[in-house]
Amino acid sequence: MTGTDEPILQVRDLTIEFAAEQGRLPVLHGLDYALPKGRVLGVVGESGSGKTVHALSLLRLLPPTAHICRGEICYKGKNLALLKEKELRKIRGHKISMIFQDPSASLNPVLTIGEQLTETLLAHRKLSKEAARSKAARLLEKVGISEPEKRLKEYPFQFSGGMCQRVMIAMALALEPDILIADEPTTALDVTVQAQILQLIKQLQQESGMSAIFITHNLAVVAGVADEVLVLYAGRCMEQAPAARLFADPQHPYTQGLLHSLAPVEKKVDRLPVIAGHPPVPGEPEGGCPFAPRCPFAFEKCRQACPPLFELGGGRRVRCWLQEGKK
Ligand SMILES: Nc1ncnc2c1ncn2[C@@H]1O[C@H](COP(=O)(O)OP(=O)(O)OP(=O)(O)O)[C@@H](O)[C@H]1O
Ligand SMILES: [Mg+2]
Repeated sequence: MTGTDEPILQVRDLTIEFAAEQGRLPVLHGLDYALPKGRVLGVVGESGSGKTVHALSLLRLLPPTAHICRGEICYKGKNLALLKEKELRKIRGHKISMIFQDPSASLNPVLTIGEQLTETLLAHRKLSKEAARSKAARLLEKVGISEPEKRLKEYPFQFSGGMCQRVMIAMALALEPDILIADEPTTALDVTVQAQILQLIKQLQQESGMSAIFITHNLAVVAGVADEVLVLYAGRCMEQAPAARLFADPQHPYTQGLLHSLAPVEKKVDRLPVIAGHPPVPGEPEGGCPFAPRCPFAFEKCRQACPPLFELGGGRRVRCWLQEGKK
């Protein structure tokens, strides 16, 4: 199924801070994007760039010390940031589902896979126990688990890491959501299984026509699956573009660095170049561009002021002073 340009989710100026002993720590600065129906957005960035905080905020699952200070999260015309908790519960896990970073922490070890899947279905759908169980079996089959009837009676410890991820996907899809958020669904898995899981999510996404947000620290992971990519650095969008354009011709020095540090598929290399230095810590005094201290092209202006997002046409936006005046 192909997507449309109609956004199902529109995030505007999303700004989040944590309250800490040393004061307020800003972790997300004015994030803006639109997720069209049926499309996949990849959100990429190093550890600590704000990927998970962003994802949790969409469903208002942030820890109590975090605070959305500005911005809107519009889903079908409703601002989720302001919605009453009761209303939000009708959307969370229902219309918008999330697969978390660690599947073993999300599955209950003392309940069978079948109990966990049918519990979700029974809680939200008017189904008999038998109907819920047979739907659970169909879901397991859909995510590539053979002998589903037998596997429903088993416990999470009887499943491998990749199988647990598949169960998590089945759970997230149980209520046929409009949007699936997958936060690093593959970090704990080996590369072959990672690729299989992502392909599976992509295939299910295409079959159902839902939209998806894939969150990862590895650009290679979203290369074959995302329609659009948003590159986060220290809580800011540094570059956003249709995936094909971003991979063919990255404009931000940070995106270029991320791409250079990927292993060429055809070559075996012992060491990969990495971007020297590390990202700023939230709460550090800010002056210029947060990437300036690591940027090989930084000049005076970069150290003085943070650049805005320059619109380059063709759906590309880049936060870099090198783009000033370019179109
Ligand atoms: N509970 C918390 N209290 C204070 N700061 C937090 C808390 N959770 C996250 N942060 C900070 O918010 C920033 C963004 O964290 P986040 O978990 O979103 O990063 P991430 O991009 O998901 O990283 P990773 O790739 O490691 O999962 C980090 O600087 C982190 O230290
Ligand atoms: Mg994370």
